[in-house]
Amino acid sequence: MKRFTLMTVMLMSVAFSYAKTLVLYYSFTNNSQTIAYNFVDITGADIQEIEPSEEGLDYAANNYAIGRRLMNAINSNPNSEASYPAIKDVNCNLADYSTIIIAAPVWYAQMAAPMQTYLFKHGAEMAGKNIGLMVSSASSGISGVVSDAKRLVPGGNFFSENLWIRSYQTSNSKNMINNWLDKVGYYDIEASVAPVFKDNAQSITYNGSNITLGGSGAGLAVYDMAGNLVLSSNGSSANTDNLYPGVYAVRAKGFSKKITVKANK
Ligand SMILES: Cc1cc2nc3c(=O)[nH]c(=O)nc-3n(C[C@H](O)[C@H](O)[C@H](O)COP(=O)(O)O)c2cc1C
Repeated sequence: MKRFTLMTVMLMSVAFSYAKTLVLYYSFTNNSQTIAYNFVDITGADIQEIEPSEEGLDYAANNYAIGRRLMNAINSNPNSEASYPAIKDVNCNLADYSTIIIAAPVWYAQMAAPMQTYLFKHGAEMAGKNIGLMVSSASSGISGVVSDAKRLVPGGNFFSENLWIRSYQTSNSKNMINNWLDKVGYYDIEASVAPVFKDNAQSITYNGSNITLGGSGAGLAVYDMAGNLVLSSNGSSANTDNLYPGVYAVRAKGFSKKITVKANK
């Protein structure tokens, strides 16, 4: 019984830890922060701020002297950690998220230095995840920021289009985000990794080929043992004939079950 309960909890946590969005933001004068929180209002995503270790610096003073120095340091040696300004520790587990939105300002036509630091350290952990950029600038375009993101997150699955919001448009950013999400198919991206779970399932049965939910349960997801979603349905059944043989976790609302898909069905 104990083992069954533990297994159930493990399966549920595998399932629940998938298909979530995290917004990472860095902001010096709060425009990117406003944009990031507007994204959260719309989608319910989790949010995490990136903060420089050194507080109180004025990156814009003396004709942007500090900002320019930080960007020059990165550009002169982008492969060395020492080139990136220190940031405060960030306490979030990227493995929990399937989509990561990066919100940051343009500095000297590139991604602001503190966000680059975070991505330099953690970009490799974002391989295979959906990545979208929301970039704030006074007037410059965002292609330099996109290049930085692709350099620092080489395995990222980037949205077809990123969002550029000029400083004066910040107050309209909610509308712009909504339009962007529709355009890039954000809700389809999310749906492709998570079914709509409706009504509690009373049971999950598996006959070696079909998974069927009992009661009025609808919406099921099948995960491999690495936690990857491999099959989903908004209905009450799914066929496993295209899955490789192996052990999988099936999740429905209120119920989960381990199944073994055999070869030569
Ligand atoms: C160091 C520094 C460099 C900047 N470089 C540019 C730039 O090259 N092009 C531009 O359009 N805006 C530039 N800006 C302006 C910011 O991108 C813009 O004000 C943005 O809205 C700030 O976002 P934030 O409030 O999230 O920090 C720069 C700002 C700073 C502080």
